[in-house]
Amino acid sequence: MKVGVPTEVKADEYRVALTPAGVRELTDAGHEVFVQSGAGLGSAITDEQYQAQGASIVPDAPSLFGEAELIVKVKEPQPPEVAMLEPRHTLFTYLHLAADGELTRGLMSSGATCIAYETVEDDRGRLPLLAPMSEVAGKIATQAGAFMLEKPLGGRGILLGGVPGVAAANVMIIGGGVVGMNAAFIALGMEATVYVYDRNIDRLRELDIAFGGRADTCFASTLAIEERLPDMDLVIGAVLVHGARAPHVVTRAQLGLMKPNAVLVDVSIDQGGCFETSRPTTHTNPTYEVDGITHYCVTNMPGAVPITSTYALTNATMPYVVHLASRGVRGAIEENPGLKLGVNVAGGQVTYRPVAEAVGVDHVPVEQVLAGVAA
Ligand SMILES: NC(=O)c1ccc[n+]([C@@H]2O[C@H](COP(=O)([O-])OP(=O)(O)OC[C@H]3O[C@@H](n4cnc5c(N)ncnc54)[C@H](O)[C@@H]3O)[C@@H](O)[C@H]2O)c1
Repeated sequence: MKVGVPTEVKADEYRVALTPAGVRELTDAGHEVFVQSGAGLGSAITDEQYQAQGASIVPDAPSLFGEAELIVKVKEPQPPEVAMLEPRHTLFTYLHLAADGELTRGLMSSGATCIAYETVEDDRGRLPLLAPMSEVAGKIATQAGAFMLEKPLGGRGILLGGVPGVAAANVMIIGGGVVGMNAAFIALGMEATVYVYDRNIDRLRELDIAFGGRADTCFASTLAIEERLPDMDLVIGAVLVHGARAPHVVTRAQLGLMKPNAVLVDVSIDQGGCFETSRPTTHTNPTYEVDGITHYCVTNMPGAVPITSTYALTNATMPYVVHLASRGVRGAIEENPGLKLGVNVAGGQVTYRPVAEAVGVDHVPVEQVLAGVAA
């Protein structure tokens, strides 16, 4: 199969979807790989390094989309990319469609088969292609939150870890999954006082063991969150209901309970945001203020550390890319039911139920659609 790797065009996005190691695996398996010139530069990978493993370098995105059958990306396609997608293409990337009806409709019109990293599941129901970026985003969430608490940046002016004789800052993490646990470990490392909220009691049990008593785990009822908000300096939102739009766990009215210049970091912003007052921001302008509370809502947080993120992401995605290239979409999803859950749009239909429900279109089972469109 012809596999194409375009340069990411989303603002402040420096990751790339395949490393030279991935090119090597694909070419060794008999596939052709096309890389857009400069695609790896943001992650310190040169065209020559790709070429040395057998990739062909193409000058621009139109040539890349023209050559490739399987297009591997990092972030959701931007409008000029959607315009280049055709029914013969398979797109494999993060999509986050539940929060983006316009993109969903654009992908439906393209006729392409679109597989979302974030809804692929492993045999234990976990999200193997979201996890590496969640690990990165969780760690950044605490770093960014600590930074935004500094006075010159509009924060309260409190040091996360305190000093001898002065109390540490209070950090609330809502959603104790991969993001939440990583955010908590960094907050604990910085010696903050940490509370982690989740609605899954089994998860709270796991976290309790992992933290060894250094952080409190709490059931995330509305009342429990509301009662603790007035004491918090930093609140990190990290909830996820697989594939669906994020539920709101802090409302606008509840901002009034918080200390002036406290900081909210909404990592769930890529699924629409878990604070009522969240709206997407970029690394260039990461924050805004609502009712005296700083909001940090960057949708591609791992994009800021591409050398870590590109390798973490591609370690996880590469086996799936090789499998898709070798078996085609239909063969690959027959052999891997978790990959089948990744197919969000195909043949002009939405094939992933939570996205169909969120966007308000019909859900059509993937087998039914792919029987007609993909080899
Ligand atoms: N902004 C970014 O750059 C970026 C990067 C990576 C991940 N993310 C996003 O971060 C979010 C979390 O990802 P993850 O990998 O940690 O997911 P995860 O599935 O590992 O964890 C989510 C947790 O949220 C909990 N949860 C669900 N509803 C809840 C509620 N109402 N109250 C409290 N807890 C609730 C679940 O029980 C689960 O433990 C996702 O939306 C993901 O897309 C964003």
